[in-house]
Amino acid sequence: MVFKNRVLVALFCVFMQAKSVSLWKRASVYNIPGDPPYTVPEAQLSAAINCTSGNTNPKIALIVPGTAAQAEQAYGLNLGLLLPANGYPVCYLNTPDNSLIDAQITSEYVAYAINSLASSTGNPIRVVTHSQGGLNTQWALTFWPSTRASVFSFFAIAPDYRGSIVLDATRIQLAAGVPQNAAAVQQGYGSNFVTALAAHDGLTAHVPTTDIYTLTDELVQPELLLNATSALSGSNATNVAVQSVCPTVNPDHITIIITGVTEYLLLMAFGAANGRADPSSIPLTDRTQLCLDILPHFNSVAGAVSIGFQTLVAVFTTFTTVTDPQSAVTAEPPLMPYAQ
Ligand SMILES: *[C@@H]1O[C@H](CO)[C@@H](O)[C@H](O)[C@H]1NC(C)=O
Ligand SMILES: *[C@@H]1O[C@H](CO)[C@@H](O)[C@H](O)[C@H]1NC(C)=O
Ligand SMILES: *[C@@H]1O[C@H](CO)[C@@H](O)[C@H](O)[C@H]1NC(C)=O
Repeated sequence: MVFKNRVLVALFCVFMQAKSVSLWKRASVYNIPGDPPYTVPEAQLSAAINCTSGNTNPKIALIVPGTAAQAEQAYGLNLGLLLPANGYPVCYLNTPDNSLIDAQITSEYVAYAINSLASSTGNPIRVVTHSQGGLNTQWALTFWPSTRASVFSFFAIAPDYRGSIVLDATRIQLAAGVPQNAAAVQQGYGSNFVTALAAHDGLTAHVPTTDIYTLTDELVQPELLLNATSALSGSNATNVAVQSVCPTVNPDHITIIITGVTEYLLLMAFGAANGRADPSSIPLTDRTQLCLDILPHFNSVAGAVSIGFQTLVAVFTTFTTVTDPQSAVTAEPPLMPYAQ
């Protein structure tokens, strides 16, 4: 009997140890109970994850691209250099059709990648997003509750959680009978997509979140009002306008990625015990240099050029009539059952 108990105790200890090192490891991350079912086959979701240094490093950072951007091309020479140089190996998410399709589908890729990488690393992961990537990630965190425990830190650069009044141009075109990219329509201010997100508590930060945005954004607006489209609420949200740190630094939707303040706060958030940046704790000397943009940080000219070029293409693609049958729609895509 004593022997049997010892065996049981030993087994229990082994179990607890295994549990403590593999809390995030799962036999399957596809269709976890409590989540809505994926509509995209698992092999496709899985094939979209491109980790440049394997998928087991616990400090991995997932890069989720914005509209019409291919992750590795757009961010490879900026975030893709900055993060590994500071100990965070990156995984690019190759969203289908460069995130121009139904944003609900793109968000499935984000939800799956988050749980898949948390499982392969055995840790909650870091996620950095640009533009629509932030909206897709917040959609995933809102509707796939299993993903919340899988994210240690979510850093969103110029996200449009409430859509953008600039993108309303696509809705006007649509009303005039001109087909548009699905994701551009869904990012109109007050679209069914962003309305559904708001209605399901999607404007509350579900995980430690830092939102950084610029008042002079030419694509994502409004940012000036109390309810900036880039801001979330709740105790897990830190919302930072670049200008609140450096009043005279005015990046646009793209250059915000390679602005010193952004990259500084990104590393601060990823390195913080609570996964969030705290702009009030930037040392004064750093702040002065940051605001002059002379802090010897991480930006290469190539990084700026690549993001600049990628963006011209992206803006053009987003706003012009598309012939790609994958993303062209004549009406906003219907909401999935789970979001109705
Ligand atoms: C994955 O990223 C690597 C490194 O940046 C790049 O060379 C490669 O082309 C990418 N592969 C895919 C399929 O995107
Ligand atoms: C904030 O994030 C923590 C850690 O992920 C989580 O446990 C908590 O539920 C979150 N709070 C809210 C209000 O979502
Ligand atoms: C901000 O949003 C909240 C909740 O949606 C709303 O009650 C409030 O009136 C809004 N404030 C402004 C200035 O739009």
